[in-house]
This record gives sequence, structure tokens and C-alpha cells, in this order.
Amino acid sequence: QDGISCDMVVFGGTGDLAMRKLLPALYYLHRDGHLHAGTRIFALARAQHTVDSYRKLARRHVSQHVARSDFDQHAWDNFAARMDYLSLDVSQRVEFPKLTKLLKKNSGRVRVFYLATLPSLFAPTVKHLASVGLADEHARVVLEKPLGESLITANQINDQIGAVFDEARVFRIDHYLGKEAVQNLLALRFGNALFEPLWRNAHIDHVQISVLESVGVENRGDYYDRAGAMRDMVQNHLLQLLCLVAMEAPVHFEPEAVRNEKLKILEALRPITGMDVQDRTVRGQYAAGERAGERLPAYYFEKRVDHDSNTETFVALKTEIDNWRWAGVPFYLRTGKCLAQRKSEIVIQFKPVPYRLFPRSGDNPENNRLIISLQPDEGIRLSLMAKSPGRGMGLQNVDLDLDFADAFKRRRWDAYERLLLDVIQGDATLFMRRDEIEAAWRWVDPILAGWQDCYRSPKRYPAGSWGPDAADSLLERQGHRWLDER
Ligand code: BG6
Repeated sequence: QDGISCDMVVFGGTGDLAMRKLLPALYYLHRDGHLHAGTRIFALARAQHTVDSYRKLARRHVSQHVARSDFDQHAWDNFAARMDYLSLDVSQRVEFPKLTKLLKKNSGRVRVFYLATLPSLFAPTVKHLASVGLADEHARVVLEKPLGESLITANQINDQIGAVFDEARVFRIDHYLGKEAVQNLLALRFGNALFEPLWRNAHIDHVQISVLESVGVENRGDYYDRAGAMRDMVQNHLLQLLCLVAMEAPVHFEPEAVRNEKLKILEALRPITGMDVQDRTVRGQYAAGERAGERLPAYYFEKRVDHDSNTETFVALKTEIDNWRWAGVPFYLRTGKCLAQRKSEIVIQFKPVPYRLFPRSGDNPENNRLIISLQPDEGIRLSLMAKSPGRGMGLQNVDLDLDFADAFKRRRWDAYERLLLDVIQGDATLFMRRDEIEAAWRWVDPILAGWQDCYRSPKRYPAGSWGPDAADSLLERQGHRWLDER
């Protein structure tokens, strides 16, 4: 068994995140021997449960969310024996001594408080933890996004947390950083000598970062309708991906070194303000449509969404990084819900050869491209020109294709497994520091303000399509196009 013996305390223990992500991740860590034998899990929520009824509920969800062949009754029984349940209303200070009583038996052990609750409960929770002496030097706190709705509100939350926990003990999750494929981006860039000399404006024409989802808002209409795609995806996941593509090599693979480099990128992002908001961004919302014969409802007919909603479910934008390495290279970001496919990928388009020596066969003008696929498949594809067989010297596109599932025939860890283990071990490398969050909001806020000032209605796109046409025009104006297999 690896690791450190710890108490993992999950606030929101009956919620969606706990059931779909946290408990399955902890189950895998347990099953694969990565949880110390002494590690205990305390689920907390308002609902009244006995330990047994909670374990039953957890079993039902975990068995649905891990692969069928990975669910093992014996492993489950031992895992369930680590679990305890406490009914607690976090808004009530008087309820916290119950928690102290439960945890103080293990004083001196690492204590992880995972706040898988509404952000409005973060402040009272940490305040009450401090008031009963549980926020001491052994404690760490994990915060789920969204962290605020703007720079001001994010600062309020961070100030309230910071009054109790110093920065080194605050772990802000962006689960994209826990994905194997995302870490592979760092391995590709900094573990190989091949790409780095080319990784700059002299050789790169433009970069595309797409996180496309086929699902709609599912059951999260009330949250999503207030947030929208910009706050839900761009402010965090897409900007973090952009940082990993663009950052300089850190001096060490350690929290401060990595986060310093990411911060420099966020600070070098060219602001999008005023008229640029119209020119460089596209916001869309899905209308009714269909995919593979299935009819899909419009966004404003989704559960718990306002019928007059102007919330965006799609964003595309063009940005630049004003620094020595990247000046002049467009970075196109795009994300949306209810699209034709689930697909996340990063496309690095290199510049064409300076002089065309050979004629081309076929009519595909694109080549010299590196495609990093993040989901659903994980892999790296290098699109090259090669001689087409036969007479003459006609060239055509061929791919060098690396599929990680083929290359490593092992189960892929879920992002939360990796991140939970990192929290237990106190490694914050893959977590966001406060100044990163602030820099991201500082860049996002003027875009949100611009949308509010200049045009209120998002562009409609049929559910099941590739998004609004305006997202295509955004690139066509620069002579580029999204790399989609349409
Ligand atoms: C979450 C967003 O952070 O990421 C969701 O709130 C989104 O709206 C999800 O669906 C996407 O994550 P993944 O891992 O499925 O790509």
C-alpha cells in the first residue's frame, strides 16, 4: 500500500460529484493498493443516513460508474469498511463539534476537506472548520470549480478561504489537469528534443484548441444557465490547456515552477475588449436539432433553464499571446455542448515549406500538422507529406499515428484518481494557484462585459451540428479552418 494515512472528508457526500467521480476514484485507488491501510473516508451531507444505508447508496453508484469488470465485491467490502457517514448541515456552526469528535481521534494525521458543494457553502464551511480547531496545519482543503463568476466574486471566495487556509494548503481542482492525455502534452513537449525547437512563431502558423461535447446540459440547468460556456469551460479548462501548449519549460516539475510559467502565459494573453469582442469571439446557443435520427431539444427547453435564456452553450474565439515565442500566432479556442461529436483535441499547424519543389496529388492543402487528441481517444498524430506511389513525384498526406491505448495496454486512470492521490501526498503541481485564477478572470471579464453591452442574443446552431457558422467564418477570415471531419 502506497501513501500517507489520511482522513478524507467529503462535504457533499451524497451529491453527483461524489457519487460519479470521487467515490469511484477512491475505490480504484483502494483496489489498486494506492490508499494507505489507515486511510478513512468520511462522507458528510444533510441527508439522514446510517453508515450502512450510505454504504449501500455508494455501492449502487460506484458499481455503475466503474467498468463492470473492475467491480469486485471483495475489494468493495474492504473499501466500504473505510467509509463513515455523518449527517451535518454546514451552515450550522453548532453541528461542527460532532465532526471534531469524529476526527480528533486521529489527531496528527493528514486531513483532506473536499468541498464538493455549492460554492456559496465554501465560506461558511471553512469558517466553521476553523472555529472548531479542524483547520490546523494537518488540514488541506480542495475546492471544485466554478470559483466565482467574475474576478470580484472569485476574490471574495479566495479571501474567505485564505483567511483560514494559507495558499499552500488550498487545492483548486481543474480536472483537465488530471487527465493522462493532458499530462502527455507536457511529456511530448519537454520529454522529447524533437518538437521544442519548432515550438514557436517562426515555425507554427496557428493553434486550435477544441473541447467539443455531444451532451447537453443534462441535469445541471440551474447552474449552467447562470454560468454559460465561457465560465464553465473557457475560464478554466481551455485556458489551462492553452497554458500547457504555450508555457516555457519550468525549471523543475514542481508546483511553484510549473504554476509560475502558466501564469506568465495568462498574463501575456492579449486582452479582448471593446469592438474586438465582436470581431474575435462567437457565442452560440443550441436550437432543436437531431443526431443519428434522434431529435434533440433546444437549450431553452432543457430542464431548469429559463425559456428566454440568452446563455451561451458555445464559444469560439481567437486570441494571441503577446510574448517573444508566440507573437503573431493565432490561438483559436472552441467549446460547446450538444455538438456533432465528443472530441477534444489540440492542433498545431506548422507553416508550409518555404518553396514547393514537388507537385501535389489530391486536393488536401493541409499538412505539417501535429494533432494531440485528448478525448475520446488519446493519441498523437503527425500529418506529413509523402510521395504517392507510382510515377512522378506527386505528394499526398499521410499520418504517423500513435494511439496511447495501443501503446500502453493498461487501464487509464481517471483524472480524479490522480488528483486525489496528489492532494493526499500534498503535491499541488496539477492544481491552480490563486493568481492563475485571478489572471484568467481578468482576461475573461471584459469579454463577458462586451457580450452584455453589444449584443445579447447568442447565435443559434442546431443541436447535433458543429456549432454556429460564425465560428467557421472567424477562421476563414484568416485563411484557416477548423480541423473537423465533417
Ligand atoms: C466540467 C463542466 O467542468 O467539465 C461540464 O462543468 C463539462 O459542463 C465537463 O461537461 C467536461 O468534462 P470531461 O472530463 O467530460 O471532458
